[in-house]
Amino acid sequence: RDKKHQQELKQLIETFPLFSQLDKTSREELFLLFRPKSASPGERVIRVGDRGDGMYFIVAGAVEVRLDSGDVPLNAGAFFGEMALLSGGRRTADVVAIDFCQFLVLDRRDFNIFASRYPGLRSAVTTMARERTEMNVSR
Ligand code: CMP
Repeated sequence: RDKKHQQELKQLIETFPLFSQLDKTSREELFLLFRPKSASPGERVIRVGDRGDGMYFIVAGAVEVRLDSGDVPLNAGAFFGEMALLSGGRRTADVVAIDFCQFLVLDRRDFNIFASRYPGLRSAVTTMARERTEMNVSR
């Protein structure tokens, strides 16, 4: 059953847009670094002002990013928590589960290792972070 679950997770990861550029071996390697985590509706997954300890990929469920200008929903396939990892600074917003959620978490250390080994991945994440920051300052 566990094996079946792992297999399903792996197949799911292949559908994540961010990982589409990785080959099978790299995806397998990345997969081993992921730590599963779940959350219930209303649970705060990330607290604004905290240090960034990891980056989250939404496997199932949905979250809301709580910004001064309003809430931004993120659904399965999306990621969050990348900004504080890239900047080395603090979390820029609260992120709250609005559903029963399943995440895969990449710890800061593993993120750094992986990002230096796969510059394409790093730049894709950086581009997304920049777009989000621009959205936040212009809203
Ligand atoms: P981080 O600052 O580490 O923690 C809060 C996260 O919310 C942030 O990383 C982004 O992943 C996410 N976030 C911030 N602003 C937006 C936005 N405009 N749209 C989507 N996600 C965002």
